[in-house]
Amino acid sequence: MLLWLMLDRIDQLENAAQTDLDQIRTAEDLESFRIKYLGSKGAVKSLMGFLKQVPKEQKPAFGQKANQLRSLLQAAFEQRRSELASGTGSRRSGLAIDITEPGLPPRLGRKHIITQTIDELLEVFGRMGFEVATGPEVEDEHHNFEALNIPRQHPARDPLDNFYLTDPYGPSPSLLRSQTSTVQIRVMEKTSPPLRIVATGRVYRPDEHDATHYSMFHQIEGLYVDHQVSMVDLRSTLIQFAHAYWGPDADVRLVPSYFPFTEPSAELYVKIELGGQWQWMEVGGCGMVDPAVFEAVGYDPRQWTGFAFGLGIERLAMRKYNISDIRWLFENDVRFLRQF
Ligand code: DAH
Repeated sequence: MLLWLMLDRIDQLENAAQTDLDQIRTAEDLESFRIKYLGSKGAVKSLMGFLKQVPKEQKPAFGQKANQLRSLLQAAFEQRRSELASGTGSRRSGLAIDITEPGLPPRLGRKHIITQTIDELLEVFGRMGFEVATGPEVEDEHHNFEALNIPRQHPARDPLDNFYLTDPYGPSPSLLRSQTSTVQIRVMEKTSPPLRIVATGRVYRPDEHDATHYSMFHQIEGLYVDHQVSMVDLRSTLIQFAHAYWGPDADVRLVPSYFPFTEPSAELYVKIELGGQWQWMEVGGCGMVDPAVFEAVGYDPRQWTGFAFGLGIERLAMRKYNISDIRWLFENDVRFLRQF
């Protein structure tokens, strides 16, 4: 046989195999394909049989082309087999992608719900005239305690209730801040009154995790210093905030409390449905800045008055979005996060 005729035969075989490949629908089809082309008595094998008849000098060209066909069919067979096994792939072996199928829109990323909440809180307080301030997460005892009128023997300073980064009894211990009230001190140290600021950020406490507690969470701190600031200003600011953020129907109340850095002090509560039951959840503390705090930063307490507050951002968000467990906010389950 002439070489070109034989090479032509290989092409024909390839075309036929391609057609057969397209028809494969089941495991049986696949097996007949294998037997027909790749089996021990298959087409490729008999092609190799021709090799003996090919003139010596033409053997390489023929052999090469026959080998190419064999690998091609082998690969096509493997691919079809795995497509059948996984139930994927187009039925047409030549086309791996069916361009007529409607596409899947790519899912866009989004800000984490805590970040979105922070943006919105800053926006609401921004409309009320509060500027944004920041402070470090790693603090010293002066800013986290001392200047906030929390003396050495105060139980809030117990090393077991804080994340100390160095020896708490060493020369100048540092710790992860337990409250954003530290930012009040940092701002007042370098700004003269009057001022009106909010600061958001992470705080750390070795708390047992449950539906409303986590060892790291976010707070928004507010501080307003001016002449003759009163408890009425504080109350109306917080209630105005609550209604702007949660809507006019949100049920909030202030309950008398105690903090070393405010006098008088109160806690802000909001009504929330937790576990199918409406209950009051504490969302933060507030009060009139204690004169001792003004003294610590060099403000004259006879001239200046002020109010301050610190609210838990996760809890604010829980009330807004009906999230019944704070831990959802930190598990990074995209099925949860995608809802916001
Ligand atoms: N720092 C307090 C806490 O983390 C919350 C707080 C209470 C902040 C009263 C304030 C305040 O600014 O005036 O529990």
